[in-house]
Amino acid sequence: MLSKTIENALNNQIKIEAESSQIYLAMACWAEVKGLEGVANFMYAQSDEEREHMLKLVKFVNERGGHAKISELAAPNVTFKSFKEMFEKLYEHEVFVSESINELVHISLQEKDYATHNFLQWYVAEQIEEEAVARTILDKINMIGDDKGGLYLFDRDIENLTVTTAASNIPE
Ligand SMILES: [Fe+2]
Ligand SMILES: [Fe+2]
Repeated sequence: MLSKTIENALNNQIKIEAESSQIYLAMACWAEVKGLEGVANFMYAQSDEEREHMLKLVKFVNERGGHAKISELAAPNVTFKSFKEMFEKLYEHEVFVSESINELVHISLQEKDYATHNFLQWYVAEQIEEEAVARTILDKINMIGDDKGGLYLFDRDIENLTVTTAASNIPE
């Protein structure tokens, strides 16, 4: 059984994951209309992943005697100055999500809710990956700069991007 404090904190994370999905969906659309199909597909996939993160939380809250709250979401940014800016935003957002997960873990310990604490470890590992991927992309974009040819190649390669982190071997 979840305490009200934990239930509220998990519901807040449900909103954050749902907003992440919308943010990345908006990025996918922007990339698509700009003609970068690879980047668009990558962002569509990111958006789907965030929805899965949200659903995993929804089911956990409901299974543990709480009630997952599906709420109104903040409108995402729909245009960007450049791909560099877009990927900077992506990285910053993942760092924000990691901080939010860390805070949740902290609350679960304060509440002595070890089931929730255990459940959240998947998210801790996931955020290591998400930040690493976002940082790798940002590094590449910074290298490319304003070079159109570089962006063309990047668009072609982004879908096959793999980043191995220390957390990569943790099973889902
Ligand atoms: Fe997420
Ligand atoms: Fe994420």
